[in-house]
Amino acid sequence: VARAPAPGDLAGCLVVVSAGGTREPLDPVRFLGNRSSGRQGVALAVAAARRGARVVLVAANVEEALLPHEPGIEVREVETTAQLRDAVRAAAAHADVVVMAAAVADFRPVASAAHKIKKTAAGPAPIELVKNPDILAELAAERLRPGQVVVGFAAETGDSEGGVLAHGREKARRKGADLLAVNEVGTAVGFGDVPNSVTVLDAAGEVLARAQGSKVAVAEALLDAVAERLRVTTT
Ligand code: CTP
Ligand code: CA
Repeated sequence: VARAPAPGDLAGCLVVVSAGGTREPLDPVRFLGNRSSGRQGVALAVAAARRGARVVLVAANVEEALLPHEPGIEVREVETTAQLRDAVRAAAAHADVVVMAAAVADFRPVASAAHKIKKTAAGPAPIELVKNPDILAELAAERLRPGQVVVGFAAETGDSEGGVLAHGREKARRKGADLLAVNEVGTAVGFGDVPNSVTVLDAAGEVLARAQGSKVAVAEALLDAVAERLRVTTT
């Protein structure tokens, strides 16, 4: 169901959106990364700006051509998870809303070699990894600004342990974000430019809204839930 966007309902708000996918260096020319394009985060930033918000878009390795050039959107480009975390937290200190749409690397190499790693007769050395901090869980636990609405994204496929919604509920409770947009991937939906199917959960894992369609439609539906949440917390 197409709904009219609500122009101006985020006027006066500062919204921070992270987008893209972080890259963790192995050496000066190589990295561990993921295929996130940043399209969903960019759609959220553009939609929030059109609804009146001032937006800081923290873009991790988003293709130049996809970055928005709109009044009201300030783009801060980063590469690694550590840089993304610093940029998001700096902006979040003043933000009314923080949306973590970026695909954050769960792990990073323990060390990045100062020089290009060479092939040796001994064969490849194993890559030792350490866990990255969970930026979303930190934001939800710390609440850098009182009344701030913290939003996460989860792409789930469902597996033998449970369906998409079951995994989403578990993640919503574990993260503690006010809103978690659970995106079904791995079937016909969720890939590239084809329609997304998104369920918005609260921190208890309860379903608040469902949305289907383009990344723009998903962005508008999620911002409806954010605006509703802001109304509740400020009145
Ligand atoms: N996220 C984050 N910091 C991380 C990992 C994820 O802030 N180190 C955020 C993502 O930006 C997203 C949400 O957490 O908004 C869910 O990411 P996801 O990868 O689905 O969750 P994980 O906790 O990493 O669980 P898993 O990958 O095992 O499913
Ligand atoms: Ca992850």
